[in-house]
Amino acid sequence: MQDANGKVARLTVDDNEIELPMYEGSEGPMVIDVGKLTSLGYFTYDPGFVSTAACDSEITYIDGNAGVLLHRGYPIEQLAEQSDYLELAYLLLNGELPDATQKAGFVETIKRYTMVHDQLRFLFRGFRRDAHPMAIMCGVVGALSAFYHDSLNIDDAEHRRVTAHRLIAKMPTLAAMSYKYSRGEPFIYPRNDLHHAENFLHMMFATPCEEYRVSPVLARAMDRIFLLHADHEQNASTSTVRLAGSTGANPFACIAAGIAALWGPAHGGANEAVLNMLDLIGDEKNIDKYVKKAKDRNDPFRLMGFGHRVYKNYDPRAKVMQQTCHEVLEELGVEDNPELRMAQRLEKIALEDEFFVEKRLYPNVDFYSGIILKAIGIPVEMFTVIFAIGRTPGWIAHWNEMISGPYRLGRPRQLYHGPTRRDYVPLGERSPA
Ligand code: CMC
Repeated sequence: MQDANGKVARLTVDDNEIELPMYEGSEGPMVIDVGKLTSLGYFTYDPGFVSTAACDSEITYIDGNAGVLLHRGYPIEQLAEQSDYLELAYLLLNGELPDATQKAGFVETIKRYTMVHDQLRFLFRGFRRDAHPMAIMCGVVGALSAFYHDSLNIDDAEHRRVTAHRLIAKMPTLAAMSYKYSRGEPFIYPRNDLHHAENFLHMMFATPCEEYRVSPVLARAMDRIFLLHADHEQNASTSTVRLAGSTGANPFACIAAGIAALWGPAHGGANEAVLNMLDLIGDEKNIDKYVKKAKDRNDPFRLMGFGHRVYKNYDPRAKVMQQTCHEVLEELGVEDNPELRMAQRLEKIALEDEFFVEKRLYPNVDFYSGIILKAIGIPVEMFTVIFAIGRTPGWIAHWNEMISGPYRLGRPRQLYHGPTRRDYVPLGERSPA
């Protein structure tokens, strides 16, 4: 954070002028430090944190108007094209791209942590077979803190490093276990000879009865989906991880909180909601009816996979996702896919329709990811779990960034509208409501 050359903002309240310091980041708009307002008897009001920076960060930068996403300065398009998920995880955690030795060492370390404690198998049995896998993930990831007492000292950098590696490595294993559990199939152990995304597909789809060959195109698509979800600065789930972390809670508990926040359809649950929406629309001939519903302010229906709090332009991840979608469908020989046809038609309408253009509602990352995941054979209820796997390095990088620097307990204030002070009325003296 840099002082903006002594620049200050002036706020006049009740004829008093208050000077507020301004700071400049390396990219993005300047910020006004409102921290001293409370000592003067005021709070700021910003529901949804639309104009509030809650922290300093060096990890990810988004310019929503220009459709730009940079991780540690590198554009997402270049990372998607030339890098891979684990390399990006390394970059997010460490700030720089690894050299060849560092990368090989990191990949090897993650492989060594992919197995989970055997006792965890019994935790799964406590869930109904039809439990949503996100419900299972909230539980089992939080429960990891009961298994790894050796690395829970958040003030120890080595403990934090080990925990980061454990979480990145174990999330795919736990995710695949939650799927296998719902199918009543035996859990499949990770294989150290496979690449991270390949290993996940193997744990999802292999059975002990026959050999399962992972298609390289599908593994590459899976890796890209993880990569495209790896971080997105202070989104709802990452902010949840930071807020939970600011209390000193252990990292497994914080990531479990992030998973819970991700679950909602306005955030990570949107990829599942997109497919459910395409199912609901059912046929291209019904699209106009649903677009009309989406435009009706009195109708709660929204076009899932469109719009974003920060992007008021095409989400750069959606462009890469669209290309990956074509590659996957071609590999599978299902290019003439009815869902893809509906999606393309919806996209075209939304990009041309005055309502969507005016409100700057563009397709977001979740719009195409669901179609790819379905084509790969991933069941719809696993979509948000896949997002959670991808987002894990981002969550940990932000948690670690916060814990390694000076930080304060996160404690938002409020504009209170409830009753003013009144005296307690004993039960027998209360009049009926
Ligand atoms: N379909 C129809 N209208 C929409 C949509 C949509 N998908 N999204 C926003 N609007 C309208 C909304 O009704 C409002 O209209 P008005 O100005 O007349 O009240 C206006 O656009 C602004 O919407 P908002 O909800 O105030 O904007 P927001 O920044 O709070 O919400 C959003 C962003 C992502 C929650 C919202 O666009 C949405 O619900 N989209 C569908 C869900 C979705 O795809 N979510 C995934 C986000 S990307 C994945 C991730 O990063 O987590």
